[in-house]
Amino acid sequence: MNSQIIQPPLVAWANGAFSHAPVIRKTTRIQDLTAVFADGQAWRSCDPQLPVYTVEMLETPAGEGELWTGVTHLNPGKVGNEFFMTRGHFHARREQGEVYFGLRGQGLLLLQDEHGKARLETVCAGSVHIIPGFTAHRLINTGSEILSALAVWPTIAGHDYAALQGGFALRVQEENQQICVCEVQNG
Ligand code: F6R
Ligand code: MN
Repeated sequence: MNSQIIQPPLVAWANGAFSHAPVIRKTTRIQDLTAVFADGQAWRSCDPQLPVYTVEMLETPAGEGELWTGVTHLNPGKVGNEFFMTRGHFHARREQGEVYFGLRGQGLLLLQDEHGKARLETVCAGSVHIIPGFTAHRLINTGSEILSALAVWPTIAGHDYAALQGGFALRVQEENQQICVCEVQNG
């Protein structure tokens, strides 16, 4: 075997599973998502241990110029009539962008600028999402299977969750079996 030929990490495009590399894994459960969903009573009635999403990331050295590669697996489900979603964040280093690639499932990527102006992009297998700097982002699973998306972002970007404690300007809910986008006052 030629030692100059190296086996890189593999990702299975069909389901986002990594192999051939050490992976860091973090699961976010209902109990971790305080004040994220609109219907607090519905949130309290959910099993607190219920997993909402898991992020798997390739182990990467930290530092200027390095990139994280990770897959978010967002389960299908709802809290009240609001679809399961990630917490959502700005990057702590606001100018740093990110790219998401849809792998499986059906959903939406909610993007919001620093002035509170929000927009949604459809996420599906093969979708490519350029998230510019200064733009908060959140995945929403509007389908009935796991929504998986691959992401690449600078290790120096960091996360700022606090800036969106008041919530995003749009919420995505199911009404009469339809996907419904609601504008939030003071979002
Ligand atoms: C990294 C990134 C994703 C999210 C993941 C979970 O910058 O955008 O890897 O971290 O989708 O979402 P949050 O971090 O909002 O809980
Ligand atoms: Mn991000």
